[in-house]
Amino acid sequence: MSKVFVCDHPLIQHKLTYIRDKNTTTKDFRELVDEVATLMAYEITREIPLERVEVETPVQRAECQIISGRMLGLIPILRAGLGMVDGILKLLPAAKVGHVGLYRDPDTLQPVEYYVKLPTDVQERELIVIDPMLATGGSANAAIDVLKKRDCSQIKLMCLIASPEGIRAVQEAHPDVDIYVAAVDEYLNEHGYIVPGLGDAGDRLFGTK
Ligand code: URA
Repeated sequence: MSKVFVCDHPLIQHKLTYIRDKNTTTKDFRELVDEVATLMAYEITREIPLERVEVETPVQRAECQIISGRMLGLIPILRAGLGMVDGILKLLPAAKVGHVGLYRDPDTLQPVEYYVKLPTDVQERELIVIDPMLATGGSANAAIDVLKKRDCSQIKLMCLIASPEGIRAVQEAHPDVDIYVAAVDEYLNEHGYIVPGLGDAGDRLFGTK
């Protein structure tokens, strides 16, 4: 069973409160999501392996550590996932970015791919799938399926807010994918919104509502 890490750092929780607030402007919402993404990138990379190197300080040689050449990939799910990409790239500037676009078929209610563009060496990379609102888990599961179909195996999922239902769905479908969230909320309502949540993340990021 995969693990769920709740990034409960006070700075993340403080900013998340303003992200949730319906009176927060589009500009502030976007900036706060960007900042939380940077802070979450710090948490998600906590276990990244280091290797020893020697450097010459002005005083003497020192044995130090650097991150051992990891190849990372960020995979935002369109469109709300885009809002977290730049914040993560601030800490992981060498990561490549792939995009997965999905829509829900109105008849089957199943997610359908409409756009997939991935780094050519995607299967060699450690991937972070970005889905700010893990609601039913349908989109996250479909995006992870897209990656696994292309032989990707090292996948983490990063969300701002998750519902218990969404977490269960991802854990059942993808028990190898750890989930990083800033908060686990109460439940999904009959319209598919996370409660209390923050509303529609895409609309609030792009000012389309
Ligand atoms: N997507 C959102 O943007 N918000 C929700 O509450 C659920 C899904």
